[in-house]
Amino acid sequence: MSRYTKIGYAGNTEPQFIMPSCIAIKESASIGEQAQRRLVGGVDDLDFYVGDEAVDKPNYATKWPIRHGMVEEWDLMEKFMEQVIFKYLRAEPEDHSFLMTEPPLNTPENREYLAEIMFETFNIPGLYIAVQAVLALAASWTSRQVGQRTLTGVVIDSGDGVTHTIPVAEGYVIGSCIKHIPIAGRDITFFIQQLLRDREVGIPPEQSLETAKAVKERYCYICPDIVKEFSKYDCDPGKWIKQFHGVNAVSQTGFHIDVGYERFLGPEIFFHPEFANPDFKQPISDVVDEVIQSCPIDVRRPLYKNIVLSGGSTMFRDFGRRLQRDLKRVVDARLRLSEELSGGRIKPKPMEIQVVTHHMQRYAVWFGGSMLASTPEFFQACHSKKDYDEIGPSICRHNPVFGIMS
Ligand SMILES: Nc1ncnc2c1ncn2[C@@H]1O[C@H](COP(=O)(O)OP(=O)(O)OP(=O)(O)O)[C@@H](O)[C@H]1O
Ligand SMILES: [Mg+2]
Repeated sequence: MSRYTKIGYAGNTEPQFIMPSCIAIKESASIGEQAQRRLVGGVDDLDFYVGDEAVDKPNYATKWPIRHGMVEEWDLMEKFMEQVIFKYLRAEPEDHSFLMTEPPLNTPENREYLAEIMFETFNIPGLYIAVQAVLALAASWTSRQVGQRTLTGVVIDSGDGVTHTIPVAEGYVIGSCIKHIPIAGRDITFFIQQLLRDREVGIPPEQSLETAKAVKERYCYICPDIVKEFSKYDCDPGKWIKQFHGVNAVSQTGFHIDVGYERFLGPEIFFHPEFANPDFKQPISDVVDEVIQSCPIDVRRPLYKNIVLSGGSTMFRDFGRRLQRDLKRVVDARLRLSEELSGGRIKPKPMEIQVVTHHMQRYAVWFGGSMLASTPEFFQACHSKKDYDEIGPSICRHNPVFGIMS
């Protein structure tokens, strides 16, 4: 849960609701005033909106209680959850155990706050707080044989705002080795918007962002070699250039634009970040290599063998294939170098590199959670209301790993 909140019932393959993680509250009322009103029995307590209804609501202030994947404003988060549960899921929270997810490097205090809200405000019978990266690993099992199911791997989770590279060993995140890459969906959208603006007239300015995003999601892919790709387009433009048709929201007249090089240049910024961001030059393949090299030596081999993709911005065709090839080049070059430096005395064992592309990539974290929450083990792994009442929120600081055997 971050930029978009994804919610639904266990056992499904996709979330029922995907909504911006924002809440709109009446502009005049500060949270303090609202609490006051609640005390004196005011009616305004229900006067707020969440998700799409909360974006650009006149006379309301739109707030984002989650920042960089972490909850920062818990009183807003509680209200947000209230509408998510009652208005969207239409669930009686007393009847359902909840699996909720946390980003890498979440704090134990945050787990306690969450537990407090869920058990005390919503009175749920059970709670499990899962690490997003671990769920993403579980999601990739659908594309693997039973014997290959493992909770050891590197997760590349690329959403709208940020890309994380997260190494996991036997269900535990190696927190000190995580790296963030400042290139994700939004950066690609902005880059395409700029390329289109420089060339295509006719896009209504206030629709240029959504047009760029639609172009990106529909037509972009990752190519093996940009120089060759440019010449493919130049030799046979009819085959490669696509037409995008849009409608001007004000005049209701249609407009159309040509979509050319941006089809492969957009997502190329994963591999050439300097095209879009002068301050960051490291290709994603180098980052992944650095992450694995910083991990304990005995897990490096299994990590190289299970690099798993997760999130909307890993959906570009051939993303996994290109990453695997470029990473292999980096690793092979290093092995060759150490062989040379030893004067041929060391013959390094080749490294197997595998980037796992799978069917559940788009909502990998959600799907992994849905799958694990529908196993009988889930109820054993959950913290119960009874334990919470007896011991307190600190029980939710730790959540046992489960699911490898199922
Ligand atoms: N088919 C697609 N091809 C390319 N990009 C896509 C596709 N579908 C969705 N996206 C992009 O994925 C991004 C959203 O991904 P996701 O839902 O994983 O993000 P998030 O988890 O809400 O955000 P974050 O993790 O950054 O806070 C958006 O930038 C969207 O444009
Ligand atoms: Mg995300």
